[in-house]
Amino acid sequence: MIKFASESLTAQVITPNVLASNLLVSEQSHNRIGLYSASIQTLINSLKNIADPTPELIKSVVTASNISEQDLMPWADFDHPVEDSYGRKLVFDGGHFEIMVMSWAPGDFSAIHDHGATQWGAVQCFGAAEHYIYQFNHDVLCTLEAAHYLPGMVRSVDHSLIHQMGNSTSQPFLSLHVYGCVGARKTITGDARIFDLLENRIQYTDGGVFFCLPENQINRRTGSLKADAETTLRHHRCMGDRLRRILEVAPNPWAETTLARLTLIN
Ligand SMILES: [Fe+2]
Repeated sequence: MIKFASESLTAQVITPNVLASNLLVSEQSHNRIGLYSASIQTLINSLKNIADPTPELIKSVVTASNISEQDLMPWADFDHPVEDSYGRKLVFDGGHFEIMVMSWAPGDFSAIHDHGATQWGAVQCFGAAEHYIYQFNHDVLCTLEAAHYLPGMVRSVDHSLIHQMGNSTSQPFLSLHVYGCVGARKTITGDARIFDLLENRIQYTDGGVFFCLPENQINRRTGSLKADAETTLRHHRCMGDRLRRILEVAPNPWAETTLARLTLIN
């Protein structure tokens, strides 16, 4: 049985831009859910009222909500810090589910990761994202399939999903992410696993699943990780790209040393 979020909606998140442009509505209705676009309201209300969520059901709910990239622009963050692998904004915290928007500037790639306590969810991508699904058995990470997105495509998310997405096109785009679990949690995607093939360890983080996380964003490390050649090559290419971007902005001895290590083993 799903525990529903509070009707007071006190946990929701609204950006200052949205707040300002909808102030009149807010004053009239005192209903903060009214600050979101109609399609996002549809999604929130649907997620609140689903009695028995499954990944496939959430995929159909996201599709039926008919959300456009324009609806998500208040949460766009293409100019995110270069140390972040992509932009990441919380749109709505429903207690047992959360809605997020990720921003993918050209060249942005997530690390290989899972989704913490997530049991069900869906991702709608508004660009032609590169997307890879992995399997992890007996400490060995392998590429299971390339499952690239077409613009507008929705894919389901389940607890076992280990994946990586990114933007290898020349245009920025957004993606919409819904993650949910049984019962309310502080963060549903907290303590997500990052599969770091330079360290050959699994890192756990409560924040973005970025390459080269600073120590204060890594909760702990486990395992002795191995990977097939295809996965290792892709991991090192993406990590190297991020390190070069960091070094383009400012001198960084740690990034320089890490890039040298990466180049040496390639
Ligand atoms: Fe993900």
